[in-house]
Amino acid sequence: MMKIPDMVAKVLLTAVVALPAVAFANPATLNHPGRTLAANCFQCHGTDGYGMESLAGESAAEIVEEMLEMKWDTANKDIMNVHAQAYTDEEVALIADYFSKQ
Ligand code: HEC
Repeated sequence: MMKIPDMVAKVLLTAVVALPAVAFANPATLNHPGRTLAANCFQCHGTDGYGMESLAGESAAEIVEEMLEMKWDTANKDIMNVHAQAYTDEEVALIADYFSKQ
């Protein structure tokens, strides 16, 4: 017999795991030129930016500012700094535009 707290934990875990699966890309952005680039972010920020550390719905300007801040913080080698350094400013703008439209 499953204890109540175990059941609650399983339901919560299922909800968290299923969350990205129920979010769909905005159909208007399926052919967006930033989508393939943004796919590199999905594993940590959720499919199409829906998940923990959500990017979906943030303004493009906000995402660009944060990405460039992390890109030019070259002394810092955390995962996002290294990640941000791999993109040109134009690519960052495309990725940010994509997430802002989800
Ligand atoms: C390997 C996991 C990983 C990948 C891949 C990744 N990120 Fe992140 N990102 C993180 C973590 C963890 C944080 C929060 C920690 C921090 O602020 O350093 C973060 C923070 C951010 C932030 C600032 C916080 C926020 O929620 O606004 C932005 C913007 C961001 N990531 C954008 C991106 C973009 C765009 C990509 C793809 C080009 C990407 N990330 C790929 C792990 C990842």
